[in-house]
Parts: sequence; structure tokens; C-alpha cells
Amino acid sequence: MMLPASTRGDDPTVRLLVAQYLQVVEAHNVSIPPGYVLLKPDVQDYIYQHMFNETNIWPLPPTGYRIRILKMLLAKMEESMSDPDEDEISDDLMGYLGSLLSVPHESPLEQAQKLSYVSYTVPGRLGHEVGASVITWENRGLILSSGTTGFRTWEAALHLATYLATPKGKSLIQGMDVIELGSGTGLLSLYCLKYLGANSVMATDRDPALLSNIQDCVVQNNLDPARIKTGIWEWGNPFSQDGDSSGKSIQSFDVALGADLIYDVDLVPLLIPTLQDLFDNYKIKHFVISATLRNPKTFSAFFEACGESNLNAHELEFESPPRESQDGLFHSTDVPIRTYIISPSRL
Ligand SMILES: C[S@@+](CC[C@H](N)C(=O)[O-])C[C@H]1O[C@@H](n2cnc3c(N)ncnc32)[C@H](O)[C@@H]1O
Repeated sequence: MMLPASTRGDDPTVRLLVAQYLQVVEAHNVSIPPGYVLLKPDVQDYIYQHMFNETNIWPLPPTGYRIRILKMLLAKMEESMSDPDEDEISDDLMGYLGSLLSVPHESPLEQAQKLSYVSYTVPGRLGHEVGASVITWENRGLILSSGTTGFRTWEAALHLATYLATPKGKSLIQGMDVIELGSGTGLLSLYCLKYLGANSVMATDRDPALLSNIQDCVVQNNLDPARIKTGIWEWGNPFSQDGDSSGKSIQSFDVALGADLIYDVDLVPLLIPTLQDLFDNYKIKHFVISATLRNPKTFSAFFEACGESNLNAHELEFESPPRESQDGLFHSTDVPIRTYIISPSRL
């Protein structure tokens, strides 16, 4: 949620930097603009206003990350200076670094555990307004915490969200009642309602703490809570959804989504009956799943189990753009990620 600030100093390389920074992309993967761009006074002002001015920007990345990126920018500016009379570094940027360093901040260990709001810029190709973003509550570096892998958004979710931003992907969501399994931070669910025109969204997970974070993010993203709900669904068990204010629970959905759910072979016998439940009792037409290809054995166990349950998995021909061409929903493409549409086989 960024308040309008001056657009003077706007430059594509700086816009990319801002979007990566607000997503708390690992510092070594952040694209630092060329020195001659950074030395322009209006660019430095733009950077201050869009990255560090605490009265303009919310959410801001964690303090340690802000310090790291600001130091990288200042170092690049300093090394690019050639004319001591002309080239300058803005007082706002220098002063801000001083103020960050003068107050105590978390140790690296505390930083590694702490959750914060993260702003995901959405890809520009659907013509979203500049600065369109989805806000989640997470720690981008956290792999496992409190027994769940759901406190960060995974590459497969960013990959699937990137696919859903294409016209074909959007047609799966627009006007639809969507349910997500293993939602984690809820990025996909929030994105479907905020930007992809879903009629309603149900975000599910087995962990109530994740669901209460998603409910908070519904508010932070200014979404209508009547159209996005959360419910506990532990795979292999019936879905325990709360009724709405009229006591009614949702009986059917059009499409189900899942990202990075096939990472453990023990989950397969739980996931398959849940898919069958979705097709048989909740009337979904498709289950769209994206999966990072970490362990081929787990992958084949899932697809064999689909076949045995008369579920057909159709692989989509979609690759995320390489990292250097991404303009939002930044993610690594180093490990292959595959997306499938699963539907009941015609008997
Ligand atoms: C690797 S995370 C993926 C989260 C999110 N989809 C993403 O890609 O960012 C797996 C998610 O599945 C949930 N999960 C794992 N086992 C589950 C089960 N048996 N029933 C329901 N949810 C489960 C976890 O709580 C976690 O949120």
C-alpha cells in the first residue's frame, strides 16, 4: 500500500529495484541500477520516497534488510562518482542510514525467525495499475517453523500466480468460486480475489495460525471479507468450514488451486482422497496444481495415485520468465516447476 509519491526520477531499472525490495528479494538477487542512473538527484529522491520514507511507504521490509540494500545503493553511488563538484549523494539517504544504524535492531537470528508484511508487485502484463501488489505476512527466508512450511510463500505459488496472470490462466479464475488447499501465506487466494476477478475464494490449510494470518491480510489488502473466507482442511479428513453469518456453508466451487503440496511421499495418500472429495462433493471441474520438481519419486507417486483414482493430469506448457525478465512475483527458476490441470478421467 504505497501512497502516491513524486514520479520524477522514475526509471525502469529503479522501478524494478523498488518492486524487488518491497518483496524482500534476497539481497544478492536484487538488481541495482547502473551508477549513472543512481547519481541523478531526482532518482535518489525517487528511491528515498519509494523505498525508505517511512511516512510514504507501507509495508516496509525488515530493518536489517533495509540497511543492507541502502548500503549497497550508497556503495554503488560512491564508486560511480567521477566529478566531485557535480556528483552528490542525497542527504535524505545518508540521514536515513544514520537513523537506521542509531537504533537497536534485531540480531540475524531474530531476523531469521520474525514475520513481517511483504508486498508482492504483480506482473504488469494484465495492465494492472502501477504499484499493484498483494500483501502477505511471512518471512521469505523461513523454511520450517512451528511444524509447518506455510510461513513463507514458495516458488511454486509465485510460478502459479504468474501463470494465472496470463489470459489463459485468468480465464480459469475470472467469475469463479475458487478454493485453495495448503494455502500457507494465502498469496494465491488473495491474488485471485484482488486482481484476477474470482467471484469468491476459500483459503484452506491445516494450520489455524496460517489461516488467522490470511484473515489479517484480507484486511491489509482491503478485500471484502464476505468474498474471501478461510477454513481448516486437513487432507484426508472432511473439510470443516465455518458457516457464514446466515449459518450457510459453501457447497460447491468451480476450481481448486494448490502450490507446492507434493513435497513428501507420505502426503500423497492424504491428498488424493481430498481431490476426490473436491470433485465428487464440491463439484470442482479442475484442480490446478504447481509443483517444484525436487524429488522425482514423490512426483511419480502422486501421478500414479492420480491414475489409480481415475484422475487425469494434463501438464501445462508454461514456464515462468527467467528471473532477469520478471517484473513482479519474483522467484527463482533454477529448480523446474511444473503446472498441471487435474480432472476426472472420462470413463
Ligand atoms: C510448502 S507449503 C506451500 C504453501 C503455499 N501453497 C505456497 O506454495 O506458498 C505446504 C502447505 O501445505 C500445508 N499442509 C501440509 N500438510 C497438510 C495436510 N496434511 N493437510 C492440509 N494442509 C497441509 C502446510 O501447512 C503448508 O501451508
